[in-house]
Amino acid sequence: MLKSKKIIIGICGSIAAYKAAFLVRLLVKEGAEVRVIMTSSAKQFITPLTLATLSKNEVLSEFTANAEQGVWNNHVALGLWADLILVAPASAHTLARFSQGICNDLLTAVYLSARCPIMLAPAMDLDMYLHPSTQANLQKLRDYGNIIIDAASGELASGLSGVGRMAEPEDILQKLKHYFLPDLPLKQKRVLLTAGPTQEAIDPVRFISNASSGKMGYALAHTLTEYGATVYLISGPTHLTMENDKVTLISVRSAQEMFEAAEQYFETCDIAIFAAAVSDYTPVKKHTKKIKKSTEDLHLELSKTPDIAKSLSTRKGKHQFTVGFALETHDEEKNANKKIREKNLDMIVLNSLNDQGAGFGYDTNKVKVILAHSAEIKTFPLKSKQEVAKDIVQLIIDNYHA
Ligand code: C5P
Repeated sequence: MLKSKKIIIGICGSIAAYKAAFLVRLLVKEGAEVRVIMTSSAKQFITPLTLATLSKNEVLSEFTANAEQGVWNNHVALGLWADLILVAPASAHTLARFSQGICNDLLTAVYLSARCPIMLAPAMDLDMYLHPSTQANLQKLRDYGNIIIDAASGELASGLSGVGRMAEPEDILQKLKHYFLPDLPLKQKRVLLTAGPTQEAIDPVRFISNASSGKMGYALAHTLTEYGATVYLISGPTHLTMENDKVTLISVRSAQEMFEAAEQYFETCDIAIFAAAVSDYTPVKKHTKKIKKSTEDLHLELSKTPDIAKSLSTRKGKHQFTVGFALETHDEEKNANKKIREKNLDMIVLNSLNDQGAGFGYDTNKVKVILAHSAEIKTFPLKSKQEVAKDIVQLIIDNYHA
């Protein structure tokens, strides 16, 4: 994300200047091109040699590089060169200079010349930070469009304790990375996704379930994150693992548990995809002890489970988009169309058990997708579940705002 990004780090005179060395190192490790500009007082806290070595570039501080030979550090060129300027630590003095437009050294001149985004990470003692003039300067700088990385609370160099510590280099790095995140179509979108089968207990060792592997749902979870989404994956028991820090896995067993978990996340989600093969019936009585074999027949009384897709989708808000799945053996399109209406879905993915290589357990799938708003039917050939997931997610992106 930061690879080849041109970043100027401005360093002011503050005890936190030593943290700038870590920051430079982290940025270089991420592949960024880093140039360091120090104020003259910053050099009393950390040497230019350290920063030149870490940034692999000469450290700049003065307007003139070699006055006798007429070589100068062109502040305008530097300001235009950068993709981002980060001043860390930003002292009260330099924040005041930035807010007033005072231009009396290289850093302030570059600041005024820059057209790129500017991030400022203040560091100073508690009372200096809280002083109305510092706070007014910070507000003014925010109003000018600068991004302020708020100081943290903790022990300060003065021995006082409170707000004023420069944010930690790792946290600043995350802010930079987030800033450079490409504009993915599902960025900031929260997706609720049900997947896998459910198990309805008969007794402690027996249950009613189905052959769903969860592969389609898990492939969807990965694909959604590649497009920028945050996913809440509510999964019944599967053999699959989920290692993706954009996916929160909520493991459940029964339809009732899946329903309760889905209800919790539904309200705050933008998109809900119901890919789980939920058991339609559950035993009325769940025996606490293993049922003993006898010569008599055994009759199980079953009750309906909640229809998660229907219950949630019929109360969806204007901004929410819902997708269901249908696995049919006959009258496929007719049944899928009925389901889309009954469950108030925006889109339904239909896979037929009559198609070779499609459905439960396979690594491939062959789907048709029906869109509620246009009644359009899209037919796709047999593909890997990863590729099918891409087709489905692309259709969601195309139709989410339709
Ligand atoms: O009604 P049917 O089970 O065929 O509908 C399938 C769709 O409804 C799938 O999207 C499935 O995840 C969802 N469903 C559900 N809760 C149920 C049954 C089905 O969410 N109890």
